Amino acid sequence: MSIEQFHHVTNNYTYPPPHIGSHPTFDPHRDRPRTPCWTVPFGRNKDFVGRETILGQLLDMIPPNADEDDCQRAVISGLGGIGKTQIALEAAFLVRNRYRDCHVFWVPAINITTFENGYREIGRELNIQIIENDKADIKLLVKAALSQISDSWLLIIDNADDASFFGETSEATSLRDYLPFNLKGSILFTTRNVEVSQKLDVRKENLVLLTEMSQSEATNMLQKGLSPHQMGDAQSLESLLEFLTNLPLAIKQASAYMIKTGMAISQYLEYCRSSDEHLINLLSKNFDDRARYETTQNPIATTWLISFTTISRDNPLAASYLKFVAFLAEKDIPKCLLPPTSDKLDEYEAISSSAW
Ligand SMILES: Nc1ncnc2c1ncn2[C@@H]1O[C@H](COP(=O)(O)OP(=O)(O)O)[C@@H](O)[C@H]1O
Ligand SMILES: [Mg+2]
Repeated sequence: MSIEQFHHVTNNYTYPPPHIGSHPTFDPHRDRPRTPCWTVPFGRNKDFVGRETILGQLLDMIPPNADEDDCQRAVISGLGGIGKTQIALEAAFLVRNRYRDCHVFWVPAINITTFENGYREIGRELNIQIIENDKADIKLLVKAALSQISDSWLLIIDNADDASFFGETSEATSLRDYLPFNLKGSILFTTRNVEVSQKLDVRKENLVLLTEMSQSEATNMLQKGLSPHQMGDAQSLESLLEFLTNLPLAIKQASAYMIKTGMAISQYLEYCRSSDEHLINLLSKNFDDRARYETTQNPIATTWLISFTTISRDNPLAASYLKFVAFLAEKDIPKCLLPPTSDKLDEYEAISSSAW
């Protein structure tokens, strides 16, 4: 099937699909789930700390009835490892506890396969009968079902990092075509990539930019699991957090290592500072994190490398800026110092896309 034919079919998609004839696979009244659905793949993080202000903002924004005139979209954006998935997860539990009838669905958009698997899971929960059929267009069936159902739902699309997945509707793989619309629905995305928010046409008011943890949140997080003799003096703790830039994934990695080995904070810090080789070695160590996908790489070094590889692919100029600024102090770098380019627009786009 050509791309044109494919789009003709998908754009003119009606429910029920014509090949299903007189036996609709999902009748929003007949097949309505009896209990609220929940397809979130993680348990609640009992060690979740802080982030109260952002959670409060999200709870005003994402419950389906927060905007009864739209199927609202919200985005949490920020660097890899900054805590987006954790906040979305905590928000999912808070919504479930507050709105007992609301279905909560979770779709990892790491790649097309995880997206489709997430939709298949929703299809099963919604009792869409032909969802297991090899020929079924799972994404369209689920889109149609969620667009028709009369219950309220929250759909969380996590790791929507690859802007090309959510591109123009003329792109064959655009996942944008599969986002349901229902006045009783609401969609929350998490992304490292601000370009995704633009592609999804999310209102400015519904964009949450997540930054690193505050000092007290980071301290609280690092303290969990460490014994008093590992904590040592306040100065080492403060210096280590500064070194890790209060980034939750880096804190988690450091604390997992110290819990496993019994190492004290001061010693860990000393080792980090001793040489680049030691630092890379520590930051590359794998660790278990039940709150992360099995398929994603946990070490902070790998997380950064993946971000950098993607930036290099999507915007080589942005990658060259990053390589250059790595040699400067991290604050207030004047634009005139950046490697020159003849096109101001390219420069502007490169600066905005280097913030992964
Ligand atoms: N608020 C938090 N409380 C406790 N741990 C957190 C918190 N935020 C993040 N973490 C830890 O940091 C790791 C990385 O966070 P995650 O949400 O996966 O980052 P992102 O989705 O931005 O890449 C998590 O798996 C978790 O271990
Ligand atoms: Mg994430």
